[in-house]
Amino acid sequence: MSFEKKLDKTKIPNHIAIIMDGNGRWAEKHKRERTFGHENGIKAVREAIEGAAEIGIKFLTLYAFSTENWNRPKEEVYMLMNLMVRSIENESKEILKNNVRIKSIGDINRLMPETLFSLQKIIEESSKNTGLTVVIALSYSSRWEITEMVKNIAEKVKNNEISIENITEKIISEHLSTYFMPDPELIIRTSAEKRLSNFLMWQASYSEFAFIETLWPDFTKETLFETISDFQQRERRFGKTGKQVKDEQ
Ligand code: IPE
Ligand code: IPE
Ligand code: MG
Repeated sequence: MSFEKKLDKTKIPNHIAIIMDGNGRWAEKHKRERTFGHENGIKAVREAIEGAAEIGIKFLTLYAFSTENWNRPKEEVYMLMNLMVRSIENESKEILKNNVRIKSIGDINRLMPETLFSLQKIIEESSKNTGLTVVIALSYSSRWEITEMVKNIAEKVKNNEISIENITEKIISEHLSTYFMPDPELIIRTSAEKRLSNFLMWQASYSEFAFIETLWPDFTKETLFETISDFQQRERRFGKTGKQVKDEQ
């Protein structure tokens, strides 16, 4: 039976974030260059977006390129930036037709002009869409984001727009690049790596984690549904006892 049928439709997470990892190892397994792995990762992105839209997820954040990824060989970085442009161009019709809204988080000023242009174009064109929001984390890292947030709030304190006593967790969340969405209930990382790699560290405070073995290019809708089905079996306690959680239900 498909995992989609097993899903509890009343417990679909609002926000899922995915660390799309394992393209290089997938290519190696197929005795090809790393770039071949990245190319094949695109259809997995499509699967994730379609799957998320199908079951009514509101926000899907995809970690596509980290601040640290700038340290990769320049040929690979260049290839990834170009792949981004091509993919956006190829997918834009489908994105607009399916009422998907694209947003991004990360230091986009570091992007190649062509990449920045196509990213901003699709963000603008899809901005009125009301279905699934796909957030592309590009040139993103949590420490970068938190540093920006601190600078931003410090500036407001200096200008007497916020007083120190009024800095709350809510204010901090509102000054992060993810201000427009809830924290992810579930963070998935493919390729069996068990780390966050500088991703959504503030937002992941109470996220459930799924570290799955699938290499990113092999990720399908079914992988997504299976992972969500596993997530739905867990009890999220938020510091309370299991009994308290059950009594509240
Ligand atoms: C994820 O796959 C894609 C990016 C980080 C851009 P990797 O390229 O990290 O693949 P592995 O980890 O080397 O297998
Ligand atoms: C993390 O993957 C970033 C993305 C998936 C975009 P990496 O493959 O770069 O992570 P590390 O360096 O192995 O932790
Ligand atoms: Mg990797």
